[in-house]
Amino acid sequence: MTEQKKIMVIHGPNLNMLGKREPEVYGTATLEDVNRMLVQRATELDLVVEAFQSNHEGELVDAIQAAVDTCRGMIINPAAYTHTSVAIKDALILLDAPVIEVHISNVYKREPFRHVSMVSDVVSGKIVGLGVLGYKLALDALAEMV
Ligand code: DQA
Repeated sequence: MTEQKKIMVIHGPNLNMLGKREPEVYGTATLEDVNRMLVQRATELDLVVEAFQSNHEGELVDAIQAAVDTCRGMIINPAAYTHTSVAIKDALILLDAPVIEVHISNVYKREPFRHVSMVSDVVSGKIVGLGVLGYKLALDALAEMV
């Protein structure tokens, strides 16, 4: 059954601009490149990836809620909402499945407000600062965990 193997990937605001957005910080890969790479790696791992991006907090909450009964694991980069969103944190608490928080940049080398994550204490693990490779490593980790 597909749903038993589904890994949900949630991309927060402005990540739709990857490739164009501050390439010196986030690199030149586009979000499409990231999703394509994850779909390909998922096939090798006998998993199925579904990706969702939104610039809107409530839509991200809706997508997390919709995944509660359908996904075996989740990769999430809440982007700027990482630092502010109690709503995303509360939605993640609903999930029984392992969740990995990913940040493309090393947020700890950046402004102090980026050092705070509202979600880190409710996720299984976290990868920061490894560029878009972090998404692939998160998927590999979930393959071991699910
Ligand atoms: C980010 C880091 C956040 O501080 C920032 O707002 C983002 C991307 C990252 O992947 O490095 O949009 O989550």
